[in-house]
Amino acid sequence: MTKPLNDTVRPLRWNDDSLQVLDQRRLPETLTYLICRSANEVADAIRDMAVRGAPAIGIAAAYGVVLAARARWRQNPETWRVAIEADLATLARSRPTAVNLFWALDRMREILSRPTQDPLQALLDAASAIHEADIEANRVMGAWGAAQVQDATGLLTHCNTGSLATGGYGTALGVIRSAWAQGGKAIFATETRPWNQGARLTAWELNQDGIPATLIADLAAALLMRSGKVQWVIVGADRIAANGDTANKIGTYALAVAARQHGVRFMVVAPMSTIDWDTAVGEAIEIEERDSRELLPPTYLAPGSVIRAWNPVFDVTPASLIDVLVTERGIVRQPSIESMRALRPSPAA
Ligand code: MRU
Repeated sequence: MTKPLNDTVRPLRWNDDSLQVLDQRRLPETLTYLICRSANEVADAIRDMAVRGAPAIGIAAAYGVVLAARARWRQNPETWRVAIEADLATLARSRPTAVNLFWALDRMREILSRPTQDPLQALLDAASAIHEADIEANRVMGAWGAAQVQDATGLLTHCNTGSLATGGYGTALGVIRSAWAQGGKAIFATETRPWNQGARLTAWELNQDGIPATLIADLAAALLMRSGKVQWVIVGADRIAANGDTANKIGTYALAVAARQHGVRFMVVAPMSTIDWDTAVGEAIEIEERDSRELLPPTYLAPGSVIRAWNPVFDVTPASLIDVLVTERGIVRQPSIESMRALRPSPAA
Protein backbone atom coordinates (compact mmCIF):
# COMPACT_ATOMS: atom_id res chain seq x y z
CA MET A 1 0.00 0.00 0.00
CA THR A 2 1.28 3.46 -0.87
CA LYS A 3 2.23 5.48 2.20
CA PRO A 4 1.25 9.18 2.62
CA LEU A 5 3.75 11.73 1.24
CA ASN A 6 4.83 12.96 4.65
CA ASP A 7 5.89 16.57 4.11
CA THR A 8 5.55 18.92 7.07
CA VAL A 9 8.67 21.12 7.02
CA ARG A 10 8.73 24.61 5.48
CA PRO A 11 11.93 26.71 5.68
CA LEU A 12 10.46 30.05 4.56
CA ARG A 13 7.23 31.80 5.54
CA TRP A 14 6.07 35.18 4.32
CA ASN A 15 4.24 37.11 7.00
CA ASP A 16 2.82 40.47 5.77
CA ASP A 17 5.93 42.57 6.35
CA SER A 18 8.69 40.08 6.99
CA LEU A 19 10.25 36.83 5.84
CA GLN A 20 10.46 34.15 8.50
CA VAL A 21 13.50 31.95 7.96
CA LEU A 22 13.81 28.62 9.78
CA ASP A 23 17.33 28.98 11.16
CA GLN A 24 19.12 25.89 9.82
CA ARG A 25 22.32 26.70 11.71
CA ARG A 26 20.55 25.72 14.92
CA LEU A 27 19.05 22.42 13.77
CA PRO A 28 18.57 19.74 14.93
CA GLU A 29 18.77 21.02 18.51
CA THR A 30 16.59 24.12 18.21
CA LEU A 31 13.71 25.05 15.95
CA THR A 32 13.60 28.85 15.65
CA TYR A 33 12.71 31.32 12.93
CA LEU A 34 14.75 34.42 12.11
CA ILE A 35 12.62 37.41 11.21
CA CYS A 36 14.07 39.26 8.19
CA ARG A 37 12.63 42.74 7.64
CA SER A 38 15.07 44.04 5.02
CA ALA A 39 16.99 42.87 1.98
CA ASN A 40 20.20 43.17 4.00
CA GLU A 41 18.84 40.81 6.63
CA VAL A 42 17.83 38.33 3.93
CA ALA A 43 21.31 38.57 2.35
CA ASP A 44 22.88 37.93 5.77
CA ALA A 45 20.61 34.90 6.32
CA ILE A 46 21.73 33.46 2.97
CA ARG A 47 25.44 34.23 3.47
CA ASP A 48 25.46 32.82 7.01
CA MET A 49 23.45 29.76 5.93
CA ALA A 50 20.38 30.28 8.10
CA VAL A 51 18.70 29.44 4.78
CA ARG A 52 20.59 27.28 2.30
CA GLY A 53 19.99 24.94 -0.61
CA ALA A 54 19.81 26.39 -4.11
CA PRO A 55 16.02 26.70 -4.59
CA ALA A 56 15.45 28.02 -1.04
CA ILE A 57 18.18 30.64 -1.57
CA GLY A 58 16.40 31.81 -4.75
CA ILE A 59 13.01 32.02 -3.03
CA ALA A 60 14.45 33.92 -0.06
CA ALA A 61 16.15 36.39 -2.42
CA ALA A 62 12.84 36.99 -4.24
CA TYR A 63 11.17 37.92 -0.95
CA GLY A 64 14.26 40.04 -0.18
CA VAL A 65 13.46 42.08 -3.29
CA VAL A 66 9.90 42.62 -2.00
CA LEU A 67 11.28 43.95 1.30
CA ALA A 68 13.75 46.17 -0.56
CA ALA A 69 11.05 47.57 -2.83
CA ARG A 70 8.80 48.50 0.09
CA ALA A 71 11.66 50.24 1.90
CA ARG A 72 12.89 52.12 -1.18
CA TRP A 73 9.33 53.17 -2.07
CA ARG A 74 8.84 54.59 1.43
CA GLN A 75 12.12 56.52 1.07
CA ASN A 76 11.25 58.02 -2.31
CA PRO A 77 8.44 56.86 -4.64
CA GLU A 78 10.09 58.72 -7.54
CA THR A 79 13.53 57.10 -7.46
CA TRP A 80 12.89 53.70 -5.84
CA ARG A 81 13.35 51.68 -9.04
CA VAL A 82 16.90 53.03 -9.35
CA ALA A 83 17.73 52.84 -5.64
CA ILE A 84 16.68 49.19 -5.39
CA GLU A 85 19.56 48.16 -7.68
CA ALA A 86 21.90 48.43 -4.66
CA ASP A 87 19.73 45.88 -2.81
CA LEU A 88 19.70 43.53 -5.78
CA ALA A 89 23.50 43.74 -5.82
CA THR A 90 23.70 43.00 -2.09
CA LEU A 91 21.49 39.94 -2.50
CA ALA A 92 23.51 38.77 -5.53
CA ARG A 93 26.75 38.90 -3.49
CA SER A 94 25.41 36.64 -0.74
CA ARG A 95 26.55 33.31 -2.26
CA PRO A 96 28.14 32.62 -5.65
CA THR A 97 27.42 29.06 -6.81
CA ALA A 98 23.66 28.40 -6.64
CA VAL A 99 22.35 29.86 -9.88
CA ASN A 100 18.78 29.90 -8.52
CA LEU A 101 19.77 33.08 -6.66
CA PHE A 102 20.59 34.92 -9.88
CA TRP A 103 17.64 33.36 -11.69
CA ALA A 104 15.24 34.65 -9.01
CA LEU A 105 16.80 38.13 -9.01
CA ASP A 106 16.47 38.27 -12.82
CA ARG A 107 12.80 37.30 -12.56
CA MET A 108 12.17 39.99 -9.97
CA ARG A 109 14.06 42.59 -12.01
CA GLU A 110 11.85 41.74 -14.96
CA ILE A 111 8.71 42.35 -12.84
CA LEU A 112 10.25 45.65 -11.65
CA SER A 113 10.64 46.80 -15.22
CA ARG A 114 6.98 46.18 -16.12
CA PRO A 115 4.60 49.12 -15.85
CA THR A 116 1.79 48.10 -13.45
CA GLN A 117 -0.77 49.86 -11.26
CA ASP A 118 0.62 48.36 -8.08
CA PRO A 119 4.26 47.33 -8.54
CA LEU A 120 4.76 46.40 -4.88
CA GLN A 121 1.88 43.95 -5.03
CA ALA A 122 3.18 42.63 -8.38
CA LEU A 123 6.56 41.91 -6.76
CA LEU A 124 4.97 40.08 -3.83
CA ASP A 125 2.80 38.07 -6.23
CA ALA A 126 5.92 37.15 -8.24
CA ALA A 127 7.86 36.03 -5.14
CA SER A 128 4.89 33.93 -3.95
CA ALA A 129 4.57 32.43 -7.44
CA ILE A 130 8.28 31.45 -7.45
CA HIS A 131 7.75 29.87 -4.01
CA GLU A 132 4.61 27.93 -5.00
CA ALA A 133 5.99 26.85 -8.38
CA ASP A 134 9.06 25.40 -6.68
CA ILE A 135 6.95 23.14 -4.44
CA GLU A 136 4.85 22.08 -7.40
CA ALA A 137 7.97 21.31 -9.48
CA ASN A 138 9.33 19.20 -6.65
CA ARG A 139 6.18 17.09 -6.51
CA VAL A 140 6.34 16.49 -10.25
CA MET A 141 10.06 15.57 -10.09
CA GLY A 142 9.35 13.38 -7.07
CA ALA A 143 6.86 11.29 -9.01
CA TRP A 144 9.02 11.06 -12.15
CA GLY A 145 12.20 10.29 -10.26
CA ALA A 146 10.49 7.62 -8.13
CA ALA A 147 9.28 5.92 -11.30
CA GLN A 148 12.93 5.55 -12.37
CA VAL A 149 13.94 3.72 -9.20
CA GLN A 150 10.95 1.41 -8.79
CA ASP A 151 13.08 -1.74 -8.80
CA ALA A 152 15.67 -0.42 -6.34
CA THR A 153 15.82 -1.56 -2.73
CA GLY A 154 18.36 1.01 -1.52
CA LEU A 155 18.89 4.73 -2.24
CA LEU A 156 21.76 6.94 -1.11
CA THR A 157 21.56 10.72 -0.94
CA HIS A 158 24.04 13.49 -0.11
CA CYS A 159 23.72 16.89 1.57
CA ASN A 160 20.20 18.16 2.26
CA THR A 161 17.99 18.57 -0.78
CA GLY A 162 14.69 18.30 1.03
CA SER A 163 11.98 20.67 2.18
CA LEU A 164 14.64 22.62 4.05
CA ALA A 165 16.58 23.31 0.83
CA THR A 166 13.57 24.27 -1.29
CA GLY A 167 10.12 25.82 -1.01
CA GLY A 168 9.03 22.42 0.28
CA TYR A 169 9.09 18.67 -0.49
CA GLY A 170 12.60 18.72 -1.94
CA THR A 171 14.39 17.77 -5.14
CA ALA A 172 16.51 14.62 -4.64
CA LEU A 173 14.92 14.11 -1.23
CA GLY A 174 11.53 14.66 -2.90
CA VAL A 175 12.27 11.71 -5.17
CA ILE A 176 13.30 9.72 -2.11
CA ARG A 177 10.06 10.70 -0.28
CA SER A 178 7.99 9.61 -3.29
CA ALA A 179 9.99 6.40 -3.72
CA TRP A 180 9.71 5.59 -0.01
CA ALA A 181 5.95 6.12 -0.13
CA GLN A 182 5.76 3.37 -2.77
CA GLY A 183 7.42 1.02 -0.28
CA GLY A 184 10.37 -1.38 -0.23
CA LYS A 185 13.21 1.16 -0.09
CA ALA A 186 16.03 1.53 2.43
CA ILE A 187 17.25 5.13 2.57
CA PHE A 188 20.85 6.05 3.31
CA ALA A 189 22.10 9.60 3.85
CA THR A 190 25.68 10.81 4.05
CA GLU A 191 26.71 12.96 6.96
CA THR A 192 28.03 15.60 4.46
CA ARG A 193 31.03 17.12 6.14
CA PRO A 194 32.10 19.69 7.05
CA TRP A 195 28.75 21.46 7.57
CA ASN A 196 26.87 18.21 8.21
CA GLN A 197 23.82 19.00 6.10
CA GLY A 198 23.07 15.26 6.02
CA ALA A 199 23.56 14.49 9.69
CA ARG A 200 21.91 17.66 10.97
CA LEU A 201 19.30 18.54 8.35
CA THR A 202 18.35 15.51 6.23
CA ALA A 203 18.21 13.30 9.31
CA TRP A 204 16.14 15.91 11.16
CA GLU A 205 13.75 16.42 8.28
CA LEU A 206 13.18 12.70 7.69
CA ASN A 207 12.77 12.14 11.41
CA GLN A 208 10.14 14.92 11.55
CA ASP A 209 8.24 13.22 8.76
CA GLY A 210 8.61 9.68 10.11
CA ILE A 211 10.66 8.42 7.14
CA PRO A 212 13.27 5.93 8.39
CA ALA A 213 16.84 6.42 7.17
CA THR A 214 20.38 5.29 7.97
CA LEU A 215 23.12 7.87 8.32
CA ILE A 216 26.61 6.97 7.09
CA ALA A 217 29.97 8.70 7.35
CA ASP A 218 30.85 10.22 3.96
CA LEU A 219 33.75 7.82 3.66
CA ALA A 220 31.49 4.77 4.11
CA ALA A 221 29.74 5.43 0.77
CA ALA A 222 32.00 3.30 -1.43
CA LEU A 223 31.75 0.39 0.99
CA LEU A 224 27.96 0.74 1.04
CA MET A 225 27.91 0.61 -2.76
CA ARG A 226 30.17 -2.42 -2.80
CA SER A 227 27.85 -4.18 -0.33
CA GLY A 228 25.05 -4.04 -2.92
CA LYS A 229 22.67 -2.31 -0.51
CA VAL A 230 22.09 0.72 -2.78
CA GLN A 231 21.35 0.77 -6.50
CA TRP A 232 21.01 4.54 -6.93
CA VAL A 233 22.71 7.69 -5.68
CA ILE A 234 20.24 10.60 -5.87
CA VAL A 235 21.52 14.17 -5.45
CA GLY A 236 20.46 17.75 -6.10
CA ALA A 237 22.33 20.54 -7.85
CA ASP A 238 23.41 24.12 -7.34
CA ARG A 239 24.14 24.86 -10.98
CA ILE A 240 23.96 22.70 -14.07
CA ALA A 241 25.95 23.81 -17.11
CA ALA A 242 24.47 23.62 -20.62
CA ASN A 243 26.31 20.32 -21.22
CA GLY A 244 24.92 18.70 -18.04
CA ASP A 245 28.04 19.09 -15.86
CA THR A 246 26.65 19.56 -12.35
CA ALA A 247 27.93 21.62 -9.43
CA ASN A 248 26.65 20.30 -6.11
CA LYS A 249 27.77 19.87 -2.52
CA ILE A 250 31.40 18.89 -2.06
CA GLY A 251 31.67 15.11 -2.18
CA THR A 252 29.12 14.66 -4.96
CA TYR A 253 31.88 14.09 -7.53
CA ALA A 254 33.50 11.43 -5.34
CA LEU A 255 30.13 9.68 -4.99
CA ALA A 256 29.65 9.72 -8.77
CA VAL A 257 33.10 8.20 -9.33
CA ALA A 258 32.44 5.50 -6.74
CA ALA A 259 28.97 4.84 -8.18
CA ARG A 260 30.38 4.25 -11.67
CA GLN A 261 33.02 1.90 -10.23
CA HIS A 262 30.34 -0.18 -8.47
CA GLY A 263 27.63 -0.18 -11.15
CA VAL A 264 25.39 2.04 -9.01
CA ARG A 265 23.28 4.48 -11.02
CA PHE A 266 23.52 8.23 -10.48
CA MET A 267 20.56 10.64 -10.63
CA VAL A 268 20.55 14.44 -10.42
CA VAL A 269 17.23 16.08 -9.56
CA ALA A 270 16.86 19.83 -10.05
CA PRO A 271 14.30 22.36 -11.23
CA MET A 272 14.81 24.22 -14.52
CA SER A 273 15.86 27.29 -12.47
CA THR A 274 19.08 25.39 -11.62
CA ILE A 275 20.15 25.06 -15.26
CA ASP A 276 22.51 27.82 -16.34
CA TRP A 277 22.27 27.89 -20.12
CA ASP A 278 24.85 30.71 -20.24
CA THR A 279 27.54 28.48 -18.75
CA ALA A 280 28.75 26.01 -21.36
CA VAL A 281 30.73 23.61 -19.16
CA GLY A 282 31.27 22.80 -15.50
CA GLU A 283 34.80 24.25 -15.37
CA ALA A 284 33.28 27.72 -15.78
CA ILE A 285 31.16 27.45 -12.62
CA GLU A 286 32.40 29.51 -9.68
CA ILE A 287 32.97 27.24 -6.70
CA GLU A 288 32.41 28.87 -3.34
CA GLU A 289 35.17 28.53 -0.76
CA ARG A 290 34.04 29.16 2.78
CA ASP A 291 35.81 30.19 5.94
CA SER A 292 38.48 27.85 7.35
CA ARG A 293 36.65 27.98 10.65
CA GLU A 294 33.95 25.72 9.21
CA LEU A 295 36.62 23.02 8.84
CA LEU A 296 39.50 23.65 11.23
CA PRO A 297 39.28 22.50 14.84
CA PRO A 298 39.59 25.62 17.06
CA THR A 299 43.05 24.52 18.28
CA TYR A 300 44.49 25.29 14.86
CA LEU A 301 42.96 28.77 14.73
CA ALA A 302 45.17 29.93 17.61
CA PRO A 303 48.11 32.28 16.91
CA GLY A 304 51.23 30.31 16.01
CA SER A 305 49.35 27.50 14.30
CA VAL A 306 50.75 26.61 10.88
CA ILE A 307 47.72 24.49 9.89
CA ARG A 308 45.46 25.98 7.22
CA ALA A 309 42.28 24.68 5.62
CA TRP A 310 41.06 24.54 2.04
CA ASN A 311 37.27 24.57 2.17
CA PRO A 312 35.62 24.37 -1.27
CA VAL A 313 31.96 23.66 -0.52
CA PHE A 314 30.91 22.46 -3.98
CA ASP A 315 32.43 20.32 -6.71
CA VAL A 316 31.51 19.60 -10.30
CA THR A 317 30.42 16.15 -11.46
CA PRO A 318 31.05 15.67 -15.18
CA ALA A 319 27.90 14.91 -17.16
CA SER A 320 29.48 11.64 -18.30
CA LEU A 321 29.07 10.26 -14.75
CA ILE A 322 25.36 11.16 -14.56
CA ASP A 323 22.85 8.54 -15.71
CA VAL A 324 19.65 10.55 -15.38
CA LEU A 325 18.77 14.22 -14.89
CA VAL A 326 15.22 14.81 -13.63
CA THR A 327 13.63 18.26 -14.02
CA GLU A 328 9.99 19.37 -13.92
CA ARG A 329 10.14 19.79 -17.69
CA GLY A 330 11.31 16.27 -18.38
CA ILE A 331 13.98 13.65 -17.90
CA VAL A 332 17.32 13.57 -19.71
CA ARG A 333 19.27 10.32 -19.84
CA GLN A 334 23.06 10.57 -20.21
CA PRO A 335 23.07 14.36 -20.18
CA SER A 336 25.30 16.00 -22.80
CA ILE A 337 25.29 19.21 -24.80
CA GLU A 338 23.04 17.44 -27.36
CA SER A 339 20.61 15.64 -25.03
CA MET A 340 20.20 18.74 -22.82
CA ARG A 341 18.78 20.65 -25.81
CA ALA A 342 15.45 18.84 -25.26
CA LEU A 343 15.00 20.91 -22.07
CA ARG A 344 16.13 24.25 -23.46
CA PRO A 345 13.36 26.85 -23.59
CA SER A 346 12.69 28.29 -27.05
CA PRO A 347 13.91 31.91 -27.38
CA ALA A 348 10.31 33.17 -27.55
CA ALA A 349 9.29 31.43 -24.29
O1 MRU B 1 25.89 24.79 0.96
P1 MRU B 1 24.46 24.37 0.81
O2 MRU B 1 23.92 23.64 2.00
O3 MRU B 1 23.58 25.51 0.36
O4 MRU B 1 24.50 23.33 -0.40
C1 MRU B 1 23.31 22.71 -0.81
C2 MRU B 1 23.50 21.71 -1.87
O5 MRU B 1 24.59 21.50 -2.37
C3 MRU B 1 22.27 21.04 -2.40
O6 MRU B 1 22.56 19.74 -2.82
C4 MRU B 1 21.72 21.84 -3.59
O7 MRU B 1 21.62 23.19 -3.28
C5 MRU B 1 20.42 21.34 -4.03
S1 MRU B 1 19.15 21.66 -2.82
C6 MRU B 1 17.68 21.16 -3.48
